[in-house]
Amino acid sequence: MDLCLNSTQQPQHLGQAPKCPGGWLEAEEEGAAPEDGTGGPPGDPQETESSLQSLLKFVPTDYASYTQEHYRFAGKSIVMQESIESFGAVVWPGATVLCQYLEEHTEELNLQDAKVLEIGAGPGLVSIVASILGAQVTATDLPDVLGNLQYNLLKNTLKCTAHLPEVKELVWGEDLEENFPKSTFYYNYVLASDVVYHHYFLDKLLSTMVHLSQPGTVVLWANKFRFSSDYEFLDKFKQVFDTTLLAEYPESSVKLFKGILKWD
Ligand SMILES: C[S@@+](CC[C@H](N)C(=O)[O-])C[C@H]1O[C@@H](n2cnc3c(N)ncnc32)[C@H](O)[C@@H]1O
Repeated sequence: MDLCLNSTQQPQHLGQAPKCPGGWLEAEEEGAAPEDGTGGPPGDPQETESSLQSLLKFVPTDYASYTQEHYRFAGKSIVMQESIESFGAVVWPGATVLCQYLEEHTEELNLQDAKVLEIGAGPGLVSIVASILGAQVTATDLPDVLGNLQYNLLKNTLKCTAHLPEVKELVWGEDLEENFPKSTFYYNYVLASDVVYHHYFLDKLLSTMVHLSQPGTVVLWANKFRFSSDYEFLDKFKQVFDTTLLAEYPESSVKLFKGILKWD
């Protein structure tokens, strides 16, 4: 069974039902179990209908063209709806490195039920994998990106995760204490992949990482290093976080860092 929508089946408008809703939703119509064991078809038709409605509610309308990429992490097939029209609508190389690290170190990281927030989640691959691995995930990004992010998250985690991931707007450096007050929101992990590139919000990005860090919070940041500004950000990151290089891939120039906020 094909786990996903193909490009001709992409719903282009809000409320327009796709010919095939995809994933295990397709399987449940046929009464078949997904080949990869992603939880199988849900039994209750009403629940199925409401899940499908939730999915359709978030079908994004912002991009004119979509393509799909297939990944496999944590023993599951993952289908990502992407568009080349936005930085936030494609999976970047840092995301696959971070996903690989998460799946290879799930127990060591104690991801089961861990509270995880991803910043600049884009299409959401890292949040999907963290969610499949048992974490309670909040995926965040700019408002324009949230529709596609929600779509991918629902499509790939519905019925196969202990905690359904949440999607929230988080603009770096903006209204952090209002929207993510430290007294209420605690995260074991802050995840970030390829959030450092040529843009004007690097200081706000760093202040966001700092705001979201409390005692015990670990920042896992994977990034492809291209520009001198990327290394300048790394220097600033090292000034405020105790930093460990966890993995490095010279062929792709991706590095993965662990950061724990310095408290002195
Ligand atoms: C290069 S993409 C990486 C996406 C995803 N993390 C990945 O690795 O596939 C950078 C992401 O940061 C988000 N972003 C850029 N500027 C931002 C800002 N000021 N506040 C919040 N998110 C921002 C973009 O919308 C985009 O999703």
